[in-house]
Amino acid sequence: MRHSIALVTGTTSGLGYAAASMLAAEGCRQVIVTGRSLARVQETAAQLAAETKTQVFTPLELDLNAPTSVQAALAELVKRGRPIDFLLLNAGMVGNKRVLTAAGIEAAQAPLIGHHQLTVGLLGAGLLSPSARIVISGAEPARGDVPMFSYTDVAAFAAKHHQGDRTAAVEALVRSGPNVKYEPNRAYADAKLIIAWWAAALARRLPSGMAVYAVSPGSAPDTQAARNAGPAVKWLFVPMARLLGMTQTPETAARRYLQASELGTDVSGQFFASAPKKLTGPMEAMRHPHFHDRANQEAAWQAVVNVSGVDFSSKHP
Ligand SMILES: NC(=O)c1ccc[n+]([C@@H]2O[C@H](COP(=O)([O-])OP(=O)(O)OC[C@H]3O[C@@H](n4cnc5c(N)ncnc54)[C@H](OP(=O)(O)O)[C@@H]3O)[C@@H](O)[C@H]2O)c1
Repeated sequence: MRHSIALVTGTTSGLGYAAASMLAAEGCRQVIVTGRSLARVQETAAQLAAETKTQVFTPLELDLNAPTSVQAALAELVKRGRPIDFLLLNAGMVGNKRVLTAAGIEAAQAPLIGHHQLTVGLLGAGLLSPSARIVISGAEPARGDVPMFSYTDVAAFAAKHHQGDRTAAVEALVRSGPNVKYEPNRAYADAKLIIAWWAAALARRLPSGMAVYAVSPGSAPDTQAARNAGPAVKWLFVPMARLLGMTQTPETAARRYLQASELGTDVSGQFFASAPKKLTGPMEAMRHPHFHDRANQEAAWQAVVNVSGVDFSSKHP
């Protein structure tokens, strides 16, 4: 990380804040920290500077729910013109009820759409360095082995409601469309599964020196993550995880992002998380077949392209 430039999304609390702090400690030349409001992220940058005793933080307003905000952030980055070495797409949330953004996207899915617009915009503007690393935050519920969380079987959902069209099926999930029965934990698991597929599909499109990984930081209940979650997560899942010792500090969890930034291009596109059935401990590449279903990966990519209105490829995937 020495002398590199990093951009971290969702830094106003939790893991994004911890990661930004660690990047400064590792010697980053500049850490661009983003948050939905400029005033709040300016405060975050000042707090990080005071805590780390460094002057490397640059605040940037970025609301991933609003395409105009992503465009404005991109325009600002283009104006500065300095290529990013480490793009950490950390922002994300667990919901409690069906909420759609102004653009008609389900709230837990919205960060991926904004992150896609940002990433494609940076790639198009030549603002990722030739060996850039992109890390996007995933989560263990996408595996299907975490109690209280299950994901949608996209092939079955497509067969039932979309004449077998998996792209249309993923798009329906992203928009929480008419045939989607909203359930908060399923919406979160689906959002993180689509992120893992998106990373796999992006890896096939990136220039050869760059790499992307989906990375679950693991269970870290001392962040603000559960603030929007329902009572089942707040009062059952989190206390159970604590009782079973399945928790890590935000710093340990955020460390996984930095570890992933050191991985090679040979494992680009993979999803790294705690060992199967675990929520903490060392991370490893997930081998579950559903993560490696190429048809679903490409369907997820195309659905995100359709919803976001932007596409990218440096080669034919
Ligand atoms: N903590 C865990 O146990 C855990 C486990 C697995 C995965 N994760 C993932 O790790 C990431 C960080 O979570 P955390 O635990 O640090 O939660 P957190 O304390 O709630 O932090 C989330 C950050 O993301 C930002 N954010 C959320 N939605 C956004 C949007 N649409 N546009 C812009 N910013 C947005 C939040 O900003 P605002 O304050 O403005 O909302 C906040 O800065 C998430 O992707 C989460 O799903 C966490």
